[in-house]
Amino acid sequence: PEAWQGFVGEAQKYMPSSGRLALLAFVNIPLIAIVLNVLRQLFLFRDKSLPPEVFHLVPYFGSAASYGNDPIRFFTDCQKKYGNVFTFVMLGRKMTVALGAKGNNFILGGKTANVSAEDAYTHLTTPVFGKDVVYDIPNERFMEQKKFVKFGLSTDNFRAYVGLIEKEVSDFIDRDPAFRIYQINDINEWGAFDVLKVLQEMTILTASRTLQGQEVREGLDKGFSDTFTDLDGGFTPLHFTFPNLPLASYRKRDAAQKKMSNFYVDIVKKRREGKSMTETDMITALMECKYRDGTPLRDHEIAHIMIALLMAGQHTSSTTGTWTLLHIADRQDVQEALYQEQVKHFGQPDGSFRLPTYEELKQLPVLDCVIRETLRIHPPIHSIMRYVRADTPVPPTLAAPSKDGTYVVPAGHYFLASPAVAQIDPEVWRDGAKWDPGRWSDADGEAQKAFKQYYDESGEKIDYGFGAVSKGTDSPYQPFGAGRHRCIGEQFAYLQLGVLILTVVRKIELRLPGSVPGPNYHTMITMPKDPRTMLYRRRRFD
Ligand code: HEM
Repeated sequence: PEAWQGFVGEAQKYMPSSGRLALLAFVNIPLIAIVLNVLRQLFLFRDKSLPPEVFHLVPYFGSAASYGNDPIRFFTDCQKKYGNVFTFVMLGRKMTVALGAKGNNFILGGKTANVSAEDAYTHLTTPVFGKDVVYDIPNERFMEQKKFVKFGLSTDNFRAYVGLIEKEVSDFIDRDPAFRIYQINDINEWGAFDVLKVLQEMTILTASRTLQGQEVREGLDKGFSDTFTDLDGGFTPLHFTFPNLPLASYRKRDAAQKKMSNFYVDIVKKRREGKSMTETDMITALMECKYRDGTPLRDHEIAHIMIALLMAGQHTSSTTGTWTLLHIADRQDVQEALYQEQVKHFGQPDGSFRLPTYEELKQLPVLDCVIRETLRIHPPIHSIMRYVRADTPVPPTLAAPSKDGTYVVPAGHYFLASPAVAQIDPEVWRDGAKWDPGRWSDADGEAQKAFKQYYDESGEKIDYGFGAVSKGTDSPYQPFGAGRHRCIGEQFAYLQLGVLILTVVRKIELRLPGSVPGPNYHTMITMPKDPRTMLYRRRRFD
């Protein structure tokens, strides 16, 4: 304030008196607003039925900086001060957070009359995915679309994908310039690569080769990647906060959406004319589906669902793969265990490996533990939001202002669940912040308990419209969300990640020059900070 007043004093010297008054008012408005905001929070009568509000200086802006820089630390700090349920202000929005397994259950298990994902997300997703899909339509209709996608994610298709994914990853390591050391130098020399960049490329290559189909895979070599990059550039926290600004990234997003939509519509048209057909991909599956009222999916709906799947799977899988490789490069003992698991099950007398079947892939405990543990401490999505449609009482078992009272979260707030916090809760997880895949092999440990709660086959099952799923809303382990918006890409992601990791481990050894980088929360998906360089050396028989 002293510097500010000094600046104002200097400016006043050069102005007529009316101008001085105007300047004084203008520069002091923010200060007055801050003072009033602080006084309001300290002294004004507060409605006791509202959850506690996180103290903040600047109105409208609120806690945006602390939340945006490190949401997990922000949540855990607030939890200590205010308990499991609290509200914070973020750029004019009131966000009510409910933490812990019970908090997740409350929000993710909420009824559509009270909570809505589409009202929270559509302004971000519809310009990217396109009209008439996902959050641009009523929830019931979207649940039908999820059912269609599930139909395309069939076990038969998955069986066919194992070899396709293995080949893409293997070819990439053999041919991509990121792995050029092999081509020009001695076999034992160490090379270096940017692990996030490589995983992003491997993920889009393998997803397009399998789910997305032959035409998309071929398109990757002809400009599809640039269109994807422009579209992806419209999927950031900035676009979430301000859906439409006159900036280049918004114009590029809109142009890329049209281009990509036309690209998929063309594929559908050609397939309808019988000009091309891939038996095992998602487009083929969607072309066969009909809504309950008997109408088939329209071409642009198929196109927009395909874009949504591309966006939903790309960063989630590529960052999970990246974190996994970073950790196994850091933990040589785990890397060796992964490698020996491959040797034991698939090693051939000549030192090569055979392809696992889809069923065998699910019987590899080391690989499984490594992926589960990575998803536990690095779930790609740190905040799951819902718009509050109707005043919603908070169950007293979760949080209450007094013995008899109940908090009521008013319509117009946003709910925010963060399974990421429950997944490292020290009251549930032994040494919760540590990456320790071994915890998953303890049959009586906390990890298995949480896992059973999430997947329990004999437990409560609910059909939200896309087939029965285990409820799982009250587990402290929920990397794929829970309830009606639970991920349907989970099995595909496990298949894609599993084959990708085992192929990498079979072909190269990994080392980290430093330690595992910390998380960067400035993107929609939690990625590792730079530098993400990793060292590799080819295994002898490769
Ligand atoms: C929903 C995580 C991969 C498609 C979700 C949700 C989470 C999640 C947390 C819940 C979002 C919410 O409640 O608002 C992940 C992770 C992945 C992954 C960690 C990989 C490691 C995929 C893939 C696909 C996919 C590969 C597509 C093939 C979807 C769809 C939804 C969803 C369609 C439903 C959205 C809704 O109902 O609102 N995912 N996902 N995901 N995911 Fe995934």
